[in-house]
Amino acid sequence: MNKKKIALIGGGQIGGVLTQLIAQRQLGDVVLFDIVEDLPQGKTLDIGEASRIDGFDTKVSGTNDYKDIADSDLILITAGIPRKPGMSRDDLLTTNSKIMKSVAEGVKANAPDAIVIIISNPLDAMVTLFKKVSGFPHYRVLGQAGVLDSSRFSSFIAWELGVSVKDINTMVLGGHGDTMVPIVRYANINGLPVMELLERKYGDAVKAKEVMDAMLQRTKKAGGEVVGLLKTGSAFYSPASAAITMAEAIIYDEKRLLPVCAFLQGEFGVDGYYVGVPVILGGTGVEKVIEFELNEDEQSAFNNSINAVKTLVGDMERLGF
Ligand code: APR
Repeated sequence: MNKKKIALIGGGQIGGVLTQLIAQRQLGDVVLFDIVEDLPQGKTLDIGEASRIDGFDTKVSGTNDYKDIADSDLILITAGIPRKPGMSRDDLLTTNSKIMKSVAEGVKANAPDAIVIIISNPLDAMVTLFKKVSGFPHYRVLGQAGVLDSSRFSSFIAWELGVSVKDINTMVLGGHGDTMVPIVRYANINGLPVMELLERKYGDAVKAKEVMDAMLQRTKKAGGEVVGLLKTGSAFYSPASAAITMAEAIIYDEKRLLPVCAFLQGEFGVDGYYVGVPVILGGTGVEKVIEFELNEDEQSAFNNSINAVKTLVGDMERLGF
């Protein structure tokens, strides 16, 4: 297999962890891009100097020049700024949209054949804008949200039930925000329904539902919970791990069924928007959106989430993007 070239746009917290994970797993050579001078060079030098210890021959280099991402097979984007005190939602959306527009132009000019995974927030808007500016086909532009949201949900279930998280399967759909839709009905531990195990643990369906509701709320607010503790930034280890899962599915053409932020063209009754849905992720990107029947409650939560995505994208367009 030819060695892959992976470009990371944004050399902040997530970009740094991504570089290290890609190197340690030898997924491909890494070019880390940031607009801050010397930052990506410093991070990649530091990571590269551990190559003997970690045992990788992967090349890792930092740059401030888009030309260096030429011919990348895969690009992961974390460029953006976090919301600062006193900053309005619109101010943040304007700033990050400007950044994403410049990133999309840089990628389009230098790596027109790459598959692109976007991690920057607000996610659903950033993915939409990247596709619009780059003109890339929709299956080559996708966003990371559901893999992380599902992992958070699975972790909470594992901690609650005292079982290995390895046996837990969950799926979180919808937009990447408070309106996300965890599909409780299909949450299972090696096939056994989580709700049934909770009911057996508490011997009471009402209490089991309360415990599940608390886990759902925690999942929806999980990003904010980490921000509240870190104070100086947002989650970066878990978003990086989630993005690596997606990168591996693409690089190794794994055809994994994962929840990703993908462009819908009528699936789930949605047309022309990026939303978190189950897809087959493989060597060409999003290979297929996998539809399944939602029950009445799930459908109504999903509709609510779609409306939130539409409002967000509408706001971005109102701001001129
Ligand atoms: N082009 C490239 N990089 C940029 C640009 C730009 N125009 N503007 C800012 N950056 C870089 C910053 O210099 C910084 O190094 O993006 C990086 C962002 O890093 P952090 O602030 O550390 O943010 P991080 O924790 O990595 O999260 C990145 O992912 O999960 C989302 O909400 C999170 O939107 C945020 C993004």
